[in-house]
Amino acid sequence: MLEKMIPIVREAGDIVLSAHDIWSHTHEKTSAADLVTEYDLAVENFLKEKLPPLAPGSIFFGEEETENADPGRGWAFIVDPIDGTTNFVRGLRQSAISVALAHDGVLEYGVVYDPYKDELFSARRGGGAFLNGRPIHVSRRPLSEGVFGMGTAIYRREYLEPTMRLAEQLFRRSCDFRRLGAAALDLCDVACGRTELFFEYSLCPWDYAAGSLIITEAGGFVSTLEGGPLPLADRCSVWASNQVNQDVLKELEV
Ligand code: IPD
Ligand code: CA
Ligand code: CA
Repeated sequence: MLEKMIPIVREAGDIVLSAHDIWSHTHEKTSAADLVTEYDLAVENFLKEKLPPLAPGSIFFGEEETENADPGRGWAFIVDPIDGTTNFVRGLRQSAISVALAHDGVLEYGVVYDPYKDELFSARRGGGAFLNGRPIHVSRRPLSEGVFGMGTAIYRREYLEPTMRLAEQLFRRSCDFRRLGAAALDLCDVACGRTELFFEYSLCPWDYAAGSLIITEAGGFVSTLEGGPLPLADRCSVWASNQVNQDVLKELEV
C-alpha cells in the first residue's frame, strides 16, 4: 500500500511547488488567520481522485471537503492537502501534504511529504518509520539538552493562556523551542530526532493522523495532553515525545 501511496503524494507535491501568485488565489475561511488557497483545493481534489481506488470502499476524510462519514469505520484516508497553509501563502516554505490510511479506527499507514526539502516520511503499523526510505528513530536526548516544538491552536484562541503556560514550563526545562507552523512536520521532526517534544492544545485528525503513526513507529510516544489516545474522529490536544521525555508530561501543570 505504501508503495502505491507514495508516488501519488509526491505527485501532489508538484502542485504545491508549481504554485505562483499565491495571495491572489487565497480566500479567508472564517478569519484572516484561517486561509484556504486554490492550491489546497487542487491538492485535495487530486488526492481524492487518486487515493480511494487504492482501497475500494474507503472513505476520504479531507480537511477542505470532508465526506459526512466516520473515519473510525472501515478503510479511511485522512488527508491534509496542505498542512501549514499560512506558511504556504507567505512563501515560508514549511508546509506538507499529510495522508494517513486507517482501518476501523486503527492507523495502518502514514505519509507526510515536504516538497520543499523533498523529504518524505512514511510508516506502516508494525513496520517502522522512514525518511526517504531510510529508517528513522526518535532522539535519546533529555529535555534539559533538548528543543521542543509547539503549535498555538490558531483556530481556538481560548487556548492561548494554557498554551503559553505550558510553553513557559517546557522552556524553563529545555534549551529552546520552535513554532514552525506545520503540525504534521512538527511531529515528523520529533520522529526523526530533530526535536525532543511537541505539543498543541487543539489539532484536527488530518493534522496529526499520519504524523502520530510515524512517531510511534519511530519509537516515540503520542497522546492527548490528558494522557489518553488520540481519537481519529475529532479535534484533540496532542503531546508527542521521544521515550526519555515520556514522563515529563506528568510533571507539568497542563
Ligand atoms: C495548521 C498548522 C499549524 C497548527 C494549526 C493547524 P493548516 O494547519 O498545522 O501549525 O498550529 O493548529 O491547523 O490550517 O495550515 O492546515
Ligand atoms: Ca493542518
Ligand atoms: Ca490544511
